[in-house]
Amino acid sequence: MAFPLLFLLFLSIPFSESKLTIDYYKNTCPDFEKIMRETVTTKQINSPTTAAGTLRVFFHDCMVDGCDASVLISSNSFNKAERDADINLSLPGDAFDLVVRAKTSLELACPGIVSCSDILAQATRDLITMVGGPFYKVRLGRKDSFVSKASRVDGLVPTTNMSMNAVIDVFTSKGFTIKEYVALAGAHTIGFSHCKEFSQRIFHYSKTSPSDPEIYPKFAEALRKTCSNYVKDPGMSAFNDVMTPSKFDNMYYQNLQRGLGLLSTDHALIKDPRTKPFVDLYAANQTAFFQDFSHAIQKLSVYGVKTGRKGEVRRKCDAFNNFKA
Ligand code: HEM
Ligand SMILES: *[C@@H]1O[C@H](CO)[C@@H](O)[C@H](O)[C@H]1NC(C)=O
Ligand SMILES: *[C@@H]1O[C@H](CO)[C@@H](O)[C@H](O)[C@H]1NC(C)=O
Ligand SMILES: *[C@@H]1O[C@H](CO)[C@@H](O)[C@H](O)[C@H]1NC(C)=O
Repeated sequence: MAFPLLFLLFLSIPFSESKLTIDYYKNTCPDFEKIMRETVTTKQINSPTTAAGTLRVFFHDCMVDGCDASVLISSNSFNKAERDADINLSLPGDAFDLVVRAKTSLELACPGIVSCSDILAQATRDLITMVGGPFYKVRLGRKDSFVSKASRVDGLVPTTNMSMNAVIDVFTSKGFTIKEYVALAGAHTIGFSHCKEFSQRIFHYSKTSPSDPEIYPKFAEALRKTCSNYVKDPGMSAFNDVMTPSKFDNMYYQNLQRGLGLLSTDHALIKDPRTKPFVDLYAANQTAFFQDFSHAIQKLSVYGVKTGRKGEVRRKCDAFNNFKA
């Protein structure tokens, strides 16, 4: 018995520090995949906005110092955490709720083993697949961060009022190509945006025209109706993909070609010669989109991950194990 144990120890030391693996929980939490799948399925059926919400939360987590569950930490009187950044991200509650549910089930099955960052990465993949998107492999073994600061968010997460140069900078400075950025932007094939995120495109576009003349006119009209009361009722919102809002497909790119893009950063993709060729490619070929999206989100999923002692497996996903101010 001593030999295989020693052998395992020997193997686990160099590898645990260095890289993530597909079967990371095979021995320590064999039901990980099953528990995740069941939790995700139940949640998505009961709250169909979960898929988009979780994908967006995962994106934001990864963009700010890596995929390390820093976005899940709750603020307290000593620390304003990432999720409460000033640019108020209005990150959706369904995603946080899903992670709590998965963590609770996983702690019962295998206490102290599965990190919150792995839960978020796996949940995102399961949800994308569940709403019609591609299946891709998720490498596991992330540790959760010791840090979460609202002040880190500015400039790392793109906003809709950014110029194309600025947006491209956000992605290329993290090692993504422009093509990978266009593929990732296809995430806007699901979910919705609040009116204030595109109101200047439909109400205050220019001195001569209230709305951006490049928006398909009937679409602009419908958006103005949807958002007519958005200042008093900031919950008003519109689907990111007006044609197939809850299906993960390549309709987002086809919409851009017809002036049916919602956010100004969406529409800019079809205007800019650096990004337009990829919009046209993905609009014409969903297989190409799914392949490139899978590769790009796998790359995003390992961006800046912490392994070994650079992180911890949180007991609760919204709090560090040791209180830190
Ligand atoms: C230029 C880049 C991007 C900008 C400026 C941007 C901005 C936004 C904004 C303003 C919203 C609406 C939020 C709200 O009103 O609640 C949104 C929604 C969303 N974004 Fe992005 N985004 C970008 C790229 C991405 C990427 C790369 C992903 C994922 C890989 C992503 C995933 C999502 C999803 C899924 C939603 C819908 C959320 C929901 O329905 O709850 N976005 N984005
Ligand atoms: C951000 O918005 C959410 C919901 O819209 C709200 O609950 C939260 O308090 C806001 N956070 C900050 C820091 O303004
Ligand atoms: C862009 O919008 C964010 C909020 O979403 C705001 O904090 C920032 O000042 C705006 N930037 C510019 C250049 O208007
Ligand atoms: C669509 O893209 C896939 C994957 O890149 C490729 O194999 C296929 O030939 C393309 N189809 C067409 C019709 O161009």
